[in-house]
Amino acid sequence: MEKLVIEGGVPLRGELKISGAKNAALPLIAATLLAPGTHVLYNVPNLRDTRTLLKLMEELGCSYEYNGSLLKVDTTIINHSEASYELVKTMRASVLVLGPLLARTGAAKVSLPGGCAIGARPIDFHIKGFEHLGAVCKLESGYVEASISDRLVGNTVYFDIPSVTATENLLMAATLAKGITVIKNAAREPEIGNLIDMLISMGAEIEGKDSDTITVHGVRHLHAAENRIIPDRIETGTYLIAIGATGGEATINNCCPAHLPALLEKLREAGFTILEDKHSLHIRSPRSAEGKLHVMHTNITTRPYPGYPTDLQAQFMALMAISDGASIINETIFENRFMHVAELCRMGADIKVDGKTAFVSGKGDTGLLGAPVMATDLRASSSLVIAGLAASGKTCISRIYHLERGYENLVEKLTGLGARVWKER
Ligand code: EPZ
Repeated sequence: MEKLVIEGGVPLRGELKISGAKNAALPLIAATLLAPGTHVLYNVPNLRDTRTLLKLMEELGCSYEYNGSLLKVDTTIINHSEASYELVKTMRASVLVLGPLLARTGAAKVSLPGGCAIGARPIDFHIKGFEHLGAVCKLESGYVEASISDRLVGNTVYFDIPSVTATENLLMAATLAKGITVIKNAAREPEIGNLIDMLISMGAEIEGKDSDTITVHGVRHLHAAENRIIPDRIETGTYLIAIGATGGEATINNCCPAHLPALLEKLREAGFTILEDKHSLHIRSPRSAEGKLHVMHTNITTRPYPGYPTDLQAQFMALMAISDGASIINETIFENRFMHVAELCRMGADIKVDGKTAFVSGKGDTGLLGAPVMATDLRASSSLVIAGLAASGKTCISRIYHLERGYENLVEKLTGLGARVWKER
């Protein structure tokens, strides 16, 4: 199985171009199921997860052309409404076809995603939401089957937690419902804004973009349209932290700084100089009087957007592991998102975990030491890459298929910044 090998200690420098957002591409591709026709999507990242969803779309009867980052999806034909366990188990976001299939065809059968390394991640909010719109849902042999006699009917739905994909699934289903749907305590992530823009371009009537209350006036039909995927804010954040952890200086282009308020604040608290304009960021690392990298310790608590993103928690922990003091990291979104801690400790980090809180004692100048480590989930693996880039010596990361799910051309992008990193069998 392929491994990623990193010879650390090289400050990253230069320029980097960010790809389209995985967590926007997935719902926007699923949304094409709502209307027959050829949909065009620009800036689609070529990732294991987008390819998995396109395979599912093909299984449903659709066809597509994918060149570079341009995707054309033809959803004229949908010849069945089932998303198999084989596919859903590899990517839980496949559940995003449930809403569009139910609204368009009146029935959908989707495998329950099952457990995940970072938490139980049930889909009860999705199911409750569809039932509020009049669907009959039953769980049978590991599948959720949802059906309606005629059309979904608009209603008010309240989420206990502002779930990202539950908001997206309900939003998509409500566009073709009879009457008005109001989603309360909705998620506000920028990827949802991207989806709302796409649905409106297809003829949907939606108010409340970027707010926690979204109102959808259902329409009878939608049509195909052309849309662009927003830049990936999590990829942007991952590279910003990697550049900083190596004591580097670089510019990140094709990104959206406005989508990273919490991270930029925390990097500034840690001493980094961040220059930003509409579509790019420049980061410069803090130096001590002796010219050594001097990262200041700070604390983070993950929250729904615009709070600090849970998908950048592990990466920031790797940075705090080389800071000048003690920091506290609270993970409030997922109950098991510290799988990277033991691996970072194998590299010499000093981290103690108590429930949903991690106490990180920064190693400062001592830094980390390269070691063989194992990836456990997508974002945990990127924190090991950051630690490997910052460490002295060689790091060898196994199970890198996790990385390929969410980072496009990672090795090329890192070597473009001067990193010594390569894949090995
Ligand atoms: C989305 O997952 C992202 N995935 C995740 O990114 C991200 O970590 C997460 O939002 C939080 O920001 C995609 O967009 C494809 P949630 P999602 O529903 O929608 C609980 C990555 O690394 N909950 O917002 O599945 C849930 O257990 C991935 O790119 C229920 O209890 O997350 C969690 O504790 C990882 N019942 C909380 O809500 C439900 O029905 C928030 O989860 C739904 C959610």
